[in-house]
Amino acid sequence: MTPLAPRQGFGAMRLRDQTTDDTDRDPVAVIHAALDAGITMVDTADAYRNEELVGRAIHGRRDEVLLASKFGLVWHGELAGDFDVRADPAYVRQACEASLRRLGVEVIDLYYLHHRSETVPIEETVGAMAELVDQGKVRGLGLSNVTANDLRRAHAVHPIVALQEQWSLLQRGVEQELLPAAAELGVTIVAHSPTGHGLWHRTRAADEPDAVVGTIARTHDATAGQVALAWVHHREHVHNVPVVPLPGTTRVSHLRANLAACDIRLSDDELRQLDSLRVVRA
Ligand SMILES: NC(=O)c1ccc[n+]([C@@H]2O[C@H](COP(=O)([O-])OP(=O)(O)OC[C@H]3O[C@@H](n4cnc5c(N)ncnc54)[C@H](OP(=O)(O)O)[C@@H]3O)[C@@H](O)[C@H]2O)c1
Repeated sequence: MTPLAPRQGFGAMRLRDQTTDDTDRDPVAVIHAALDAGITMVDTADAYRNEELVGRAIHGRRDEVLLASKFGLVWHGELAGDFDVRADPAYVRQACEASLRRLGVEVIDLYYLHHRSETVPIEETVGAMAELVDQGKVRGLGLSNVTANDLRRAHAVHPIVALQEQWSLLQRGVEQELLPAAAELGVTIVAHSPTGHGLWHRTRAADEPDAVVGTIARTHDATAGQVALAWVHHREHVHNVPVVPLPGTTRVSHLRANLAACDIRLSDDELRQLDSLRVVRA
């Protein structure tokens, strides 16, 4: 697969199959607005339980989409509760077939292991994923919620094109070991939840560290959420690795606001101020 190049991806995790009169919140309209605006990467997972919706939304526009899905994270019940990890080769094959069927496509462009397994060696999982590439069911392989050691071991079996990890002003654990490993192996980092699951969008307060972000936001006539997102967009140049920020939204208007963050140019001094927040080092 060619290197990933989208400026910003679209995270579909929160989209639910619902009919609404509010065109701002129509899930299909949100995905169409993303494609209309030139976003190519649409990210879902079997665990999000919305692959049929995503498949329906991209129907007729398949060529415009770099379609990403994931397998291996199996909720016990409700979304975001307890989960098991399934990463054995038989499950990999079965999960891929099910995702292809729900998405209504012949091939998934980027197929991730959603979470590392404590029991199945990653070589076995990636070996089965590589067979999917050979069979033309998947174009590129990705990993999520793994260690640097997992990444290296996986990459030795089959090239890994993308690593999807949380990366935001609040969550910078990826910088410690995964980032150097990804840089060395030429793996693109897909930075999910770049506003800390929306925390920076909800920021209004004048307290530190919000005041720093708020002041920078006013300078750019932007919101704190847009500045937090712009900070992730600047990671690519700061660390010299390909980075695709992956925000998520259920609103057309928010999608446009997130895209506008691509164009915010933070000065070196602003980057230093934001860097010095280091609120949580996960
Ligand atoms: N691999 C993994 O383990 C993993 C885990 C989590 C997420 N992900 C991926 O990352 C994507 C993004 O995750 P996320 O949704 O947690 O990230 P996020 O973009 O950091 O936060 C989304 C939250 O912010 C709100 N929001 C988004 N744009 C906004 C705006 N412009 N103004 C105000 N509020 C805004 C959203 O509400 P509205 O819907 O109202 O806009 C939502 O509550 C997911 O869709 C998924 O694809 C991957």
